[in-house]
Amino acid sequence: MNIILLGPPGAGKGTQARKLVEDRDMIQLSTGDMLREARTSGTEMGQIVAEVMDSGKLVTDEIVIGLIREKLEGDKKGGFIFDGFPRTLAQADALEELLAEMDETLDAVIELRVQDEALVARIVGRSTCGNCGEVYHDLTKPIPADGKCTVCGGTEFKRRADDNEESLKTRLMEYYKQTSPLLGYYHVKGALRSVDGLADMRDVEAAIAEVLDA
Ligand code: AP5
Repeated sequence: MNIILLGPPGAGKGTQARKLVEDRDMIQLSTGDMLREARTSGTEMGQIVAEVMDSGKLVTDEIVIGLIREKLEGDKKGGFIFDGFPRTLAQADALEELLAEMDETLDAVIELRVQDEALVARIVGRSTCGNCGEVYHDLTKPIPADGKCTVCGGTEFKRRADDNEESLKTRLMEYYKQTSPLLGYYHVKGALRSVDGLADMRDVEAAIAEVLDA
């Protein structure tokens, strides 16, 4: 199965994608993670990417589509989870072409619905394991008292430079201007399914499983 997880910043796309990797042997393709890796490359492109990401704006379609194209060339395992991609109509068209070239189809687009008010709290409370990327939250999923990641035992945790109220405003604006039109696009194609992203993490997981097993 190939699926897209769609939703505003902090909706829970990364959290749910990691669960699907664990449960269904799928491959998570997060353009955010790919770009965070690119920004540490020390290249001019990495520097440009870093500035754009920290401001909360979108990186160009050309860069992002190039990154996704490279990743689609490998093993498909249980299918791809597109996490944070596509984010523009041009990216959605490119994805359709890339999948068609591989004789693959898009099986579902899952929207995680979360009200804006909840997103600030989610974003400012987030941290991730520096070793395996497991996602934590100061209130809803705190780092264990022994300071060790529950997945890999790592002891270094990171906070993202764009996880602050000011960048979040720009990220939300970009979401409404450039990404939310994709909801209509995939609705018309008959692929859109919506789940309540405000529910408890396990309930969101169950709702996604229901969509995928239908
Ligand atoms: P990206 O890394 O994709 O960030 P994002 O879309 O803003 O999404 P987030 O990673 O912030 O949130 P999430 O939905 O994954 O939530 P999470 O599961 O972590 O993009 C970053 C930047 O890269 C962009 O701004 C842009 O510049 C660039 N970029 C990336 N892709 C691009 C593209 N395609 N085109 C152009 N530019 C691109 O959860 C958040 C928090 O909430 C966590 O602490 C978690 O523990 C908690 N949480 C999750 N679920 C629940 C729940 N059900 N209940 C309570 N808490 C929960």
